[in-house]
Amino acid sequence: MSGIKAAITGVGGYLPSYVLNNDELSRMVDTSDEWIMQRIGIKERRILKDKSKATSYMGTKAVKELLEKTGTDPLDIQLLVCATITSDMHFPATANIICEKAGLANAFSFDLNAACSGFVFGLETCRRFIESGAYKKVILVGADKMSAIVDYEDRTTCPLFGDGAAAVLLEPATGQEGIIDSILAVDGSGAKYLYMYAGGSLHPPTHETVDAKQHYIFQEGQPVFKMAVSKMADVSVEIMERNHLSHKDIRYLVPHQANMRIIEATARRMNLNKEQVMINIGRYGNTTAATIPLCLWDYEKQLKKGDNLILSSFGAGFTWGSIYVKWAYDPK
Ligand code: UT7
Repeated sequence: MSGIKAAITGVGGYLPSYVLNNDELSRMVDTSDEWIMQRIGIKERRILKDKSKATSYMGTKAVKELLEKTGTDPLDIQLLVCATITSDMHFPATANIICEKAGLANAFSFDLNAACSGFVFGLETCRRFIESGAYKKVILVGADKMSAIVDYEDRTTCPLFGDGAAAVLLEPATGQEGIIDSILAVDGSGAKYLYMYAGGSLHPPTHETVDAKQHYIFQEGQPVFKMAVSKMADVSVEIMERNHLSHKDIRYLVPHQANMRIIEATARRMNLNKEQVMINIGRYGNTTAATIPLCLWDYEKQLKKGDNLILSSFGAGFTWGSIYVKWAYDPK
């Protein structure tokens, strides 16, 4: 161990302006505001309507805001990681395109695919570059244009997702603050419950795959729900226990925003009250890799140096994990 910690030193975000609310959705498929609010807890989500724009557009906006807010020279960034499952194209990496658009001429970059756990897996990855001592400024972006892979004729998935992006800057920490601990896990046997069937090397695109709507998200909701409820809570409780944190020590749980019932179940297991949980699912839905950094972006002004945060996620793969962060700065 080098003794160097990695700290989040800034947050930037971007949400497209178009609001798709439950009333509009109810005119598209057989659903209702009541069902969506009761079963999921989403009132509206943002959609990137402009067909000429994609994930890199939102990621670049978030990165530019982050650079401006933190007064960072884009040429000082050494690495950018983009967590996404909706890359602009299969290749090159969306991270490469963001670097070009945001003027990060000295950074190397790559994409990371861990679905809804993308930000948490990415944070663990970026953290290690900083802790090595070789990297001083690293950006992690979580960005997804979910509307590109959602079937708006499928009522079981179309209410769930939205588009958005957010980015954090990571730098070496000088004090006690920074990323303290993490627990990450995967179980590939869960792949059959949440996936996009076609478009990859197993089922390349054909007229048949398009006609069969196999380029959209497929989800068997209940098994995913059951695993999410148990795994997200398990790792969140485990990380508290092994760091000797009681519920009173936690300022915020920062959970992946897939379903309000999953968030509440996790908070209950951690013995937290409502005020200790970051929630924005009602306004943005599930933006996949962007949910956790968008929470940090929304709540940034409420965070103080030394606050204990538990970031927690569950997603396709299955992937899940929890990260203990001691927040590194006061509101600016
Ligand atoms: O972020 C990645 C990880 N993903 C998740 O964490 C999502 C986990 N899963 C879930 O959040 C939930 O399973 C869903 C929100 C996707 C579905 O909720 P559910 O309570 O598990 O509903 P269900 O799939 O068991 O469906 C219950 C009923 C069904 O009708 P019948 O068979 O009981 O007559 C569905 O056809 O609700 C029906 N239904 C709907 N009704 C109105 C499904 N979608 C809708 C809808 N509007 N949009």
